[in-house]
Amino acid sequence: MALRIRSHPPLFVVRRGSIPSLSWRRCLSSECLCLYPSATASFFPTPRSSPPTPFPVRCVQAPAVVNLAPGTPIRQTSILVVGATGTLGRQIVRRALDEGYDVRCLVRPRPAPADFLRDWGATVVNADLSKPETIPATLVGIHTVIDCSTGRPEEPIKTVDWEGKVALIQCAKAMGIQKFVFYSIHNCDKHPEVPLMEIKNCTEKFLKDSGLNHVIIRLCGFMQGLIGQYAVPILEEQSVWGTDAPTRIAYMDTQDIARLTFIALRKENLSGKLLTFAGPRAWTTQEVITLCERLAGQDANVTTVPVSVLRLTRQLTRFFQWTNDVADRLAFSEVLTSDTVFSAPMAETYELLGVDAKDIVSLEKYLQDYFTNILKKLKDIKAQSKQGDFYI
Ligand SMILES: NC(=O)c1ccc[n+]([C@@H]2O[C@H](COP(=O)([O-])OP(=O)(O)OC[C@H]3O[C@@H](n4cnc5c(N)ncnc54)[C@H](OP(=O)(O)O)[C@@H]3O)[C@@H](O)[C@H]2O)c1
Repeated sequence: MALRIRSHPPLFVVRRGSIPSLSWRRCLSSECLCLYPSATASFFPTPRSSPPTPFPVRCVQAPAVVNLAPGTPIRQTSILVVGATGTLGRQIVRRALDEGYDVRCLVRPRPAPADFLRDWGATVVNADLSKPETIPATLVGIHTVIDCSTGRPEEPIKTVDWEGKVALIQCAKAMGIQKFVFYSIHNCDKHPEVPLMEIKNCTEKFLKDSGLNHVIIRLCGFMQGLIGQYAVPILEEQSVWGTDAPTRIAYMDTQDIARLTFIALRKENLSGKLLTFAGPRAWTTQEVITLCERLAGQDANVTTVPVSVLRLTRQLTRFFQWTNDVADRLAFSEVLTSDTVFSAPMAETYELLGVDAKDIVSLEKYLQDYFTNILKKLKDIKAQSKQGDFYI
C-alpha cells in the first residue's frame, strides 16, 4: 500500500519496504513550492493579512543581469562554495582563490572548525542545507554557486542531497544567482534502485527545470578517497575491505576536477550542459590494492566481503526503519554486482575544454607521490626518534 507523508505530500510517495520515489517535476509546482515556508518567510515577508504566498520559482530563463540592490552590481568573481570542507570542496576553494575569485564558503557549524578555509583567504558563513531558513543570507552578493555538498555517511541521504538541494536551488533561482554548478554521479540515471543515484538524477532534472543557468558535472570516483580506504590501512598493517566484484572505477584527482570545473565555468557555450569527468583508467578494487601493495612494499591484509553478503545485509536492514539509512548506503552493492564500469570516454570533453589528456594525473602517479612522501616522512621520524634515544 502506498502511504503519503502528510507534511511533504508532493515530494515523496513512500511504499512500505521500498525506496521513497522522488519527483523533481512536482517540486516545481506551486503546491510544492510551499515546502519551505520558513526559508522564504524571513527573506520575502508577506503581508500579515494575505495568505502565505508560494515560493516564487518558475521554469523560465534567469534574467541576464540581476541587481538585488540597485547600485550594487554583483561581481562575476564572487562565488559561494557549498560543501567547502569536503574532499572536493576544499580543492574547489583552493583553485578558486588561486585563480583570483572572491570565495565565500557555506559551512555548517561543526565541532571541527573550518579555520583552514579562512587561513587560505576565503570568507566563511554558517548555514545548514537541512535548515532552509539559513540559506538565503549566504547568497547575497553571489554570482556563482558551486555545490560540492553531500550528506555524510552517518546522515540520512534525503535530508541533504534531496531536500537540502531543492531548497538551495529554489533560493538560488529566487535570488537571481547567475550560474550554478552541481556535481552528480556518472550513470546516475541508469541506477534508480540506488537511492543516492536516484536523488542525483532527480536533482539534475530539478536544476534543469528550474531555469537556472547551470553546469552539471558527473563524476566517477576520487583518488583521495583511496588513501583512507587502502593506502593508510596497508601502511598501518590493518585489514582493508575488498569485494569480489568486477566493478571498475576511473578515479580522478580532485585537483584535476577543480581545474576542469573552472575552465568549464568560464566557457559560456557550456551553460546548461552535462559533462562527465573520468580518470585516465578504470580500476577494480583488487587492482588498486595490488598497486598500493607494490608502492608500500608490503602485503595487504585483505578481508573480502562477497557482494552476495552485502546484498543480504541490505535486505535485512530494510526491515527496520532505524536501519533504513544503512540500507540506502549499501544499495551500491546492487551496482557492484552489475559488472559496471564507472568510466567515460574523455576525448570530446578534453577538446571542449581545451585540455591536454597528458596533464591529467594517473592513479599510478598520484599514489606513487603519496607513498614516496609518506615513506620519506616515516623514515625522517624514525631517524629523529633514534637521535632522541641517543641523547636520552
Ligand atoms: N567521493 C566520490 O567518490 C564521489 C563520486 C561521485 C560524485 N561525488 C559527488 O561529488 C561531490 C563532493 O563529494 P565529496 O566526496 O567531496 O563530499 P564529502 O567529502 O563527503 O563532503 C561533503 C561536504 O558537504 C557538506 N555538508 C554535508 N551536509 C551538509 C549540510 N546539511 N549543510 C551544509 N553542508 C553540508 C559537508 O560539511 P561537513 O564538513 O559539515 O560535514 C562537506 O563539506 C558530491 O556532490 C558527491 O555526491 C563524489
